[in-house]
Amino acid sequence: MKSITLITAAMSILVVSQILQSPNTTSGDIWFHLTFEECAVAIVQPNLQAQKETARAVIDAYNAWDAHSIMAYRTPNCQHQVLPVSLGRAAKNNSEYREYLDTIMPLYKNFTVIVKEEVHDATTRTCIIHAFSTASTKIGLYRNEYTLILTFTEDGRRVAKFDEFIDSAYTERFAIALLNASSIS
Ligand SMILES: *[C@@H]1O[C@H](CO)[C@@H](O)[C@H](O)[C@H]1NC(C)=O
Ligand SMILES: *[C@@H]1O[C@H](CO)[C@@H](O)[C@H](O)[C@H]1NC(C)=O
Ligand SMILES: *[C@@H]1O[C@H](CO)[C@@H](O)[C@H](O)[C@H]1NC(C)=O
Repeated sequence: MKSITLITAAMSILVVSQILQSPNTTSGDIWFHLTFEECAVAIVQPNLQAQKETARAVIDAYNAWDAHSIMAYRTPNCQHQVLPVSLGRAAKNNSEYREYLDTIMPLYKNFTVIVKEEVHDATTRTCIIHAFSTASTKIGLYRNEYTLILTFTEDGRRVAKFDEFIDSAYTERFAIALLNASSIS
C-alpha cells in the first residue's frame, strides 16, 4: 500500500533525525525518543492531502451544478444535515439528498461557490469551509453564505458526514419568495 510506504518513510526520517540530534543514544533507545505526538503526525499526515483534494471536488461539483458529481464523493451512509438545528431540517441520506437536488437544480442557474476560508484537521478527519454562493433565479439574484463541516473517511477520499450551516434568515425569506413566484407562474 502507498500509505504504508509513506508512513514507513516518515518514520525513517524521524528515526534518522533522532540519531543526528542525539549521537550518544544506542539504537534501542531511539524509539523511546519518538514522542506520541510525532508518531501520530507520521501516521495521520498521508490523509491530509487526500481530504484536501476531496474538499476541492466537493466545491467543484457544486460549481458544475451536477447532481452525479455532488453525490459521487459521499459514502453510502453519508448524512447531509442543514444547520442550525433551530431550522428543524431533518438529516438527509443519499437518496433523499439526490431527490432534493433534483427539485432545486432547475430553479438556480449559474450556481457559483466562492471559498473564503478552508481549515483542515487530519487528526479528526474534518474540514471547515466558509463559503459564499450566488445563482440567478426567476426572482433575481440568489446569494447565500455557508459554513460547511465535512467529516472524511479514514483515507480522506470520501465524505462520511456533511454539515451545512446556512444563512437561515436569508434562506427562509428567499425560499418563500421563490415558492410564491413559482406557484403563480
Ligand atoms: C433514505 O431514507 C429513506 C427513508 O427516509 C429510506 O426509504 C431509504 O431507503 C434511505 N436510503 C438510503 C440510501 O439509506
Ligand atoms: C455567473 O456567476 C458569476 C459569479 O457571480 C458571474 O461572475 C457570471 O457573470 C455569471 N455568468 C452568467 C452567464 O450569468
Ligand atoms: C407573492 O407574489 C405576489 C405577486 O407577485 C406578491 O405581491 C407578494 O408580495 C409575494 N409574497 C411574498 C411573500 O413574496
